[in-house]
Amino acid sequence: MKKILWATDFSPHAHDAGRQALDCAKCTDRPIDVLTVVAPDELPTFLLDVPDPFIAPAAVHDAERRLEAEHEERVRQELTSETRFLTDAGIQVALHIRVGSPADEIVRTATESASDLIVLGSHGRRSLTELLLGSTVESVTKHAPCPVLVVR
Ligand SMILES: Nc1ncnc2c1ncn2[C@@H]1O[C@H](COP(=O)(O)OP(=O)(O)OP(=O)(O)O)[C@@H](O)[C@H]1O
Ligand SMILES: [Mg+2]
Repeated sequence: MKKILWATDFSPHAHDAGRQALDCAKCTDRPIDVLTVVAPDELPTFLLDVPDPFIAPAAVHDAERRLEAEHEERVRQELTSETRFLTDAGIQVALHIRVGSPADEIVRTATESASDLIVLGSHGRRSLTELLLGSTVESVTKHAPCPVLVVR
């Protein structure tokens, strides 16, 4: 089945792109994959630079896994409310959360999900609007496996 991929970093620009994705989905009767990519440095870290001899490494690992799972749950909730306007409009939505470089993960997801359109904002959270385009969208348009719609 043909699908639209909307990638969001929760910025107003990305939200505008989501509105456009909704229009495309309505016209062509397609579901939307919604993706947000968490950069590794945004993950909560369990701050133990100096190993504590009284804490077993396995316990540290468990605590890290728990923090990651909690963080993912928070992001999933945020994504669910960010995409409510799509589900309210009757669009079939699948949520994706990935950790890594935003551009690489957007291209990878589009490839794996066989998306036939990627929808992005022209800028994102860092939003240096004097630049023509943000670096994520620039890299995605260079490497995408399908057409890219850049919304401004
Ligand atoms: N982490 C992310 N997860 C999902 N989509 C993203 C992410 N970052 C950016 N995007 C998508 O790319 C669009 C453009 O964002 P981009 O990161 O290119 O601009 P920027 O944040 O203003 O600039 P830069 O990151 O280069 O400093 C966003 O509107 C969004 O659609
Ligand atoms: Mg950015």
